[in-house]
Amino acid sequence: VIDIRKLYADTGMFTYDPGFTSTASCDSGLTYIDGDEGILLHRGYPIDQLAEQSSFMEVAYLLLNGELPDRETLDTFKTTITRHTMVHEQLSTFYRGFRRDAHPMAIMCGVVGALSAFYHDSTDINDPVQRRIASHRLIAKMPTLAAMAYKYSSGQPFVYPRNDLSYTGNFLRMTFSVPAEEYVVDPVIEDAMDKIFILHADHEQNASTSTVRLAGSSGANPFACIAAGIACLWGPAHGGANEAALNMLREIGTVDKIPEYIARAKDKNDPFRLMGFGHRVYKNYDPRATVMQKTAKDVLEKLGVKDPIFDVAKELEQIALHDPYFIEKKLYPNVDFYSGVILSAIGFPTDMFTVLFALARTVGWVAQWNEMISDPAQKIGRPRQLYTGPTQRDYVPVDKR
Ligand code: ACO
Repeated sequence: VIDIRKLYADTGMFTYDPGFTSTASCDSGLTYIDGDEGILLHRGYPIDQLAEQSSFMEVAYLLLNGELPDRETLDTFKTTITRHTMVHEQLSTFYRGFRRDAHPMAIMCGVVGALSAFYHDSTDINDPVQRRIASHRLIAKMPTLAAMAYKYSSGQPFVYPRNDLSYTGNFLRMTFSVPAEEYVVDPVIEDAMDKIFILHADHEQNASTSTVRLAGSSGANPFACIAAGIACLWGPAHGGANEAALNMLREIGTVDKIPEYIARAKDKNDPFRLMGFGHRVYKNYDPRATVMQKTAKDVLEKLGVKDPIFDVAKELEQIALHDPYFIEKKLYPNVDFYSGVILSAIGFPTDMFTVLFALARTVGWVAQWNEMISDPAQKIGRPRQLYTGPTQRDYVPVDKR
């Protein structure tokens, strides 16, 4: 009888790294993270500088092309994206096939994957021109598809893109306009939304990006790969955390209840975790959370919203940052901790939060996918396993068992 487990020992080097905590799956020139120092750079540029001084379209160009565009190049890029914002009219029938109360992420998994059926011409992954067109199509259509998911779930008619608006302004209008009242884009909200998109644009080899790369490594078309990324992002340990964080803050409700929840987070017999806290890579303040907290303050002030959950969030952060459990485990607020407060103030229902994350992360996903496909050394992703099942044994006919 062969002891299969012993075979591993006999075949030389074999690494076992569940959750890939210390295994690089690829090389990449897009995004650098120093988790101990709390540093995040896109193509070398610090995230706080990009969030404060740049625009989402500029960051999209940067991630896709490696350099910041000059004015003319940026204008051309924006025009290209704008030209692709429409989706095929027939795609609206896909939405009508879903239950009204379907989670918008469920709808997004379906409709983004379905784009492959509409754009056969840009599924040739070996043609760099077609790869570029597919990337532009995905970046451009995500706001339209996301706004349609929102409209469908709220029983309102779809709003078509208006190409004289900015990428973010157009998305806000498609989401919040109703037939009786055209949504007028408020520059403060537009700016905050654009920042949120920048802060979510890419984050090296996180679970959903790794999923996109793994799906793409088999040669699957880009629309199918991004749909796979959306499915992975939906999980509450990943993109679903912004929704979970806001629900948690609402559940806590008032500052006096915080100690009860801190105690639950520390209790190993309670599965509860402080949502929006902790990160696989950051063992320091998530630099995105810093910008997010400031943006939350600006938006609430501008809108004149006095939301008690913002106070709960700030107080919770302070208490956790001084608690020995959180200090020892290096648990700090992550990007999701404050984003829900802003999105809620703007008017998004919680189940749209992860959709907005997916919209922004599409830029990182397509940039990473392009980088992978262009790499001549790229192979199909095929992890191995550490087998723990029975050793070889003989089949016993059913009547003799
Ligand atoms: N609240 C309480 N305890 C926590 C938390 C938390 N939010 N996060 C981690 N811990 C504890 C764990 O219980 C564990 O304790 P132990 O060593 O006594 O067993 C220790 O810290 C390490 O946690 P792991 O789950 O092993 O760390 P990992 O790196 O695998 O997880 C993760 C990172 C998934 C983000 C985790 O911190 C978590 O679940 N956070 C809440 C969900 C969340 O906010 N996710 C968003 C991440 S950011 C993003 O996707 C954009």
